[in-house]
Amino acid sequence: MVKVLFICLGNICRSPMAETLFNHHLEKAGKSADFMVDSCGTGGWHAGEKADQRMRQTAEKHGLSITHRARQIQDTDPETFDYLLVMDQQNLIDVTDRFVNTQKKVSLVTDLTQSFRGKIIPDPYFGDMRGFEEVFQLLNNVTRELADQLIHQHSKQSES
Ligand code: 4NP
Repeated sequence: MVKVLFICLGNICRSPMAETLFNHHLEKAGKSADFMVDSCGTGGWHAGEKADQRMRQTAEKHGLSITHRARQIQDTDPETFDYLLVMDQQNLIDVTDRFVNTQKKVSLVTDLTQSFRGKIIPDPYFGDMRGFEEVFQLLNNVTRELADQLIHQHSKQSES
């Protein structure tokens, strides 16, 4: 079982969208059973809430439903998950500051892809609907490549 945690600031826009899209790509590949996927925020202001209405609306437009309820990152997450995948440099600082011994598990979500390495996923929260659509498109492409990559890596590991 490969355990993947997507992390952003509030856990109501980017990381629940990343979680939903990653699950969607796993399902299409018939690999959902090999993965455990979740998301969380470095901040706890929105804990318990549904994803931002604008993010949910954008997802619905593309036929996807975000069911996640926001939660803050917790002490056990770095032990539980194999990959802690953050959206931007501030998330990276916040997570590596809090969990100094688990830095090797933490990376920008884009750094596990060939095509998007080094890119950040911009925070759409204070912008307009166009920003939400752009984040959807970017995360769709990033998580598709990420799913291909991790499925491939995992199947090689289980052969050896
Ligand atoms: P997210 O977006 O980190 O992609 O979920 C944000 C959500 C809420 C806030 C900031 C960013 N906020 O300031 O409440």
